[in-house]
Amino acid sequence: MIIAVDGPAGSGKSTVSKMIADELGITYLDTGAMYRLFAYKLMKENIDFSDREKELKLLEDLNIDMKDNRFYLDNEDVTDKIRTRETSSNASKISVVKEVREKMVELQREFSKSKDVILDGRDIGTVVFPNADLKVYLNADPEIRAERRCKELRNKGENVEYEEILREITKRDYNDMHRKESPLKIAEDAVILDSTSLSAEEIKDKIKKLVEEKTKKI
Ligand code: DC
Repeated sequence: MIIAVDGPAGSGKSTVSKMIADELGITYLDTGAMYRLFAYKLMKENIDFSDREKELKLLEDLNIDMKDNRFYLDNEDVTDKIRTRETSSNASKISVVKEVREKMVELQREFSKSKDVILDGRDIGTVVFPNADLKVYLNADPEIRAERRCKELRNKGENVEYEEILREITKRDYNDMHRKESPLKIAEDAVILDSTSLSAEEIKDKIKKLVEEKTKKI
């Protein structure tokens, strides 16, 4: 079974997907982390984000591994290092590159072979798994998404301004929705949920119900 969860930054996709994976005993794949990993690699190697040739060379040799919700780059656990604001914005930048997307999609399909998987991202229901058993588009107002992101960063000890985070989220939404390659959009057959005034627990219950309905039909 493949469950696709797409939506903008901060809508709660990863929190909810993780909860569902735990409760149903299935695998979770955070595809955003894969774009972050590649952006992190470019940052680490001091590659200019406009140097396409060097970028593609690094893509060819990319050595990433995903195990138990941890992400490894060249065998180093970088799960926490890829969650910074800089990596968020750079991941969005490199996600416009066709070759990068093709490679990530290939890795995501490979990872999900012969398993029950819930994947979250921007193009899961539209491109990676157009025949997914269930597609959810999780949305929320930008203001609440920025509030959540501020809380998360402040919990990590970062001193952030709400207005600035809101601007960053709005810019990233715009980039993700308007790029040429696989832009974020709602799949025709997706169920749209809004987490603006619902808790992660409530969204999780709604998705679990949808999964139950689907599995009854299969
Ligand atoms: O979900 P996230 O915030 O970790 O994603 C980081 C960036 O990666 C996001 O701004 C766009 C890109 N991304 C993508 O293009 N396709 C995906 N399936 C997942 C993420």
